[in-house]
Amino acid sequence: MKVEYNKSLKNYNTFGINVKAAEFVEITSEKQLKEVLSKPVDKELFVLSGGSNMLLTRDLDAFVIHIAIKGITIKESNEDFVVITAKGGENWHDFVLHCIENNFGGLENLSLIPGYVGSAPIQNIGAYGVELKDTMVSCEAYELSSGKKHVFSNEECKFGYRNSIFKNEAKGKFIITSVTFKLSKKNHYLNTSYGAIEAALAEQNISNPTIQNISDAVIKIRKSKLPDPLEIGNSGSFFKNPVISKDHFMELQKEFQKIPSYQIDENSIKVPAGWLIEQCGFKGKRWGDAGVHKNQALVLVNYDNASGKEILEVSEKIKATVFDTFKIKLETEVNII
Ligand code: EPU
Repeated sequence: MKVEYNKSLKNYNTFGINVKAAEFVEITSEKQLKEVLSKPVDKELFVLSGGSNMLLTRDLDAFVIHIAIKGITIKESNEDFVVITAKGGENWHDFVLHCIENNFGGLENLSLIPGYVGSAPIQNIGAYGVELKDTMVSCEAYELSSGKKHVFSNEECKFGYRNSIFKNEAKGKFIITSVTFKLSKKNHYLNTSYGAIEAALAEQNISNPTIQNISDAVIKIRKSKLPDPLEIGNSGSFFKNPVISKDHFMELQKEFQKIPSYQIDENSIKVPAGWLIEQCGFKGKRWGDAGVHKNQALVLVNYDNASGKEILEVSEKIKATVFDTFKIKLETEVNII
């Protein structure tokens, strides 16, 4: 286990921001992790997994632990389902593909989400009508302060929309080392309700889709809208879709007849932030190397060498204009460091 000093994190965050870590270590086993956590360090510990949901705006005067522990194991299996565990350093999409190849259903709608398995529970990753919480049984995590291992059940994770205990009371306190899912082996429960998936399947005349068909459709849709972080730095949706009151929504509808919406309950309505941002004229805009993606206004991008601060400034501009126009306060989905 080698400690590196003054290490560039450009290749360790999907935004491709070039900040430096004072100290950096890559961990490939739980044994190494225990060893690191048992030693006193004079710097703050900072956990970096796939770096797919963060915007780094400064150098980190920290001891950065990059989790690269790999492995996929079946814990239990019968005719109907499988309980499968993936280590935190597995690439999320590769794990989803592994499940699809083995005909394990439940994660297909979450295809092509960037990042590692270990960070997936933090923001309860979700796409096309499915969230991680729908199939996650538990996750294992080490407490940074004590070095002790905890098992968090699905309930203990307190999952919500792009939210969990790891973004609240447990924020920055744990390293997630593995995640366990219960997936179906037959009679898969398919979620094709999302309009774009239905359309992609209809286009290919598929009326009885397999989990592979759904994964393929999701991959096609994502590729058409979302930039590949290997080509253009980004962190997926930068903001959450806001939920507003029905009264507020009806007020807005008078002026903006075409405002899209999803009813959450009797009194609350979710509106797509991407639409709000596009209406304010930001879609496809660019300031130096920082900008707003041309196909999806919810995604901020780093074309080459933007700093985290420049991306943050763009996000502040967007927030201010969306608030002036719609009286809606956008919340960031990405962690700002
Ligand atoms: N829209 C626009 N302009 C845009 C973008 C979107 O008008 O530039 C409108 C679309 O026309 C559509 C609506 O907004 O009516 C929703 O758009 P889309 O289906 O692209 O989904 P989203 O609400 O923008 C959310 C998630 C995505 C996830 C998709 C599909 C959040 C914050 N984002 O985006 O998640 O892939 O739904 O389920 O909930 C992520 O979290 O990083 C992410 C990419």
